[in-house]
Amino acid sequence: MEQLYRETWIQVNTEAIKQNVASLDRLHNGDRKIMAVVKANGYGHGAIEVAKAALVGGATVLGTALLEEAIELREAGIVAPIVVLGRTAASGAGVAAKLDIALTTFQREWLVSAMEHLERGQSLKLHVKYDTGMGRIGVRTIEEVKEVLTTIDEEESLELEGLFTHFATADELDLSYYEEQQKTFDELIRVLTSEDRHIPLIHCANSAASMRFKDACYNMVRFGISMYGLLPATDLEAELPFSLAPALSLYSHLSHVKPVKSGSKISYGGTYTATQDEWIGTVPIGYGDGWIRSNANGGEVIIDGMRLPIVGRICMDQMMVRLPHEMSVGQRVTLIGEDNNERITIEEVADRLGTITYEIPCLITKRVPRLYVEKTMS
Ligand SMILES: Cc1ncc(COP(=O)(O)O)c(C=O)c1O
Repeated sequence: MEQLYRETWIQVNTEAIKQNVASLDRLHNGDRKIMAVVKANGYGHGAIEVAKAALVGGATVLGTALLEEAIELREAGIVAPIVVLGRTAASGAGVAAKLDIALTTFQREWLVSAMEHLERGQSLKLHVKYDTGMGRIGVRTIEEVKEVLTTIDEEESLELEGLFTHFATADELDLSYYEEQQKTFDELIRVLTSEDRHIPLIHCANSAASMRFKDACYNMVRFGISMYGLLPATDLEAELPFSLAPALSLYSHLSHVKPVKSGSKISYGGTYTATQDEWIGTVPIGYGDGWIRSNANGGEVIIDGMRLPIVGRICMDQMMVRLPHEMSVGQRVTLIGEDNNERITIEEVADRLGTITYEIPCLITKRVPRLYVEKTMS
């Protein structure tokens, strides 16, 4: 680990990742493969460390959005199967084949181009994407799926490894649209099975579906947000079959502490005015770290087990909080996580910002170091 000079950091508890994967594995009685989805730098947690922890916890496959992300895992020495879930430029086919990385396909023309990038003797593993209602990528009819499958069957350099779809609403309380998508997918599989087509990996479930509809998951699930211990939707807690262990905490320190007189203004625009003589602490984190300005709207931190308000505008690198009394420079500040019996969750921050849990850790920029600990969960 390189020397750290900044006093703001993300702590990821890899034990929580292992525990969440193990809980899902137990729910499925070990009957299904678990793909750990580690795209976008492991949802901001750090792809390599998360991937390693997930593999220890029971995942056997890794999922990324980009070929670049998959290559990063290989370069880190990870040998587990990897599937790139998004579209890759056909020119990436040769590298993917060389590194044994499976790519997603849903266009025959793409297959033709991809083959041109394979060297003699190379074989490219493929997962065919069926769009059952997400409306993003994927083949939209059974006929087209069959055409893509036939093209793959006919080419020695192409190997069918999987077939999948993605749900748009598996995390909602209203299940009607999810059920339509599941039915559409089931019908495709029924037709292909009746034609004796062998597809090694069939997968449709994201975190929400893998925890809520475990009997509809075929032979692999794609576990993303809840592997990190986060709810797919903040109103879903009561629906889940096991409790999740959040992996990420965000900490900083007080970099400056001062008394200010009643009437003093704090930060850009002078939008906060002390209404009495107050103690103000400065925290070295700002929107340049992904701690966006709207966190000032009702946002709090925890110091010494107390929730304290952010005051004034958040700057690029720093922000201020109102302290109940004098505190020491260097005192730990918790922005996400637990301190004594007080806790700020990513769910709380997401709700306050009017967004989803996924976005919060992804927002925290590279400038904030990620440190890894392995703490047994209670
Ligand atoms: C194709 C695909 N599969 C699986 C996932 C994981 O979903 P979740 O994070 O909700 O588990 C994602 C994430 O968006 C995805 O795009």
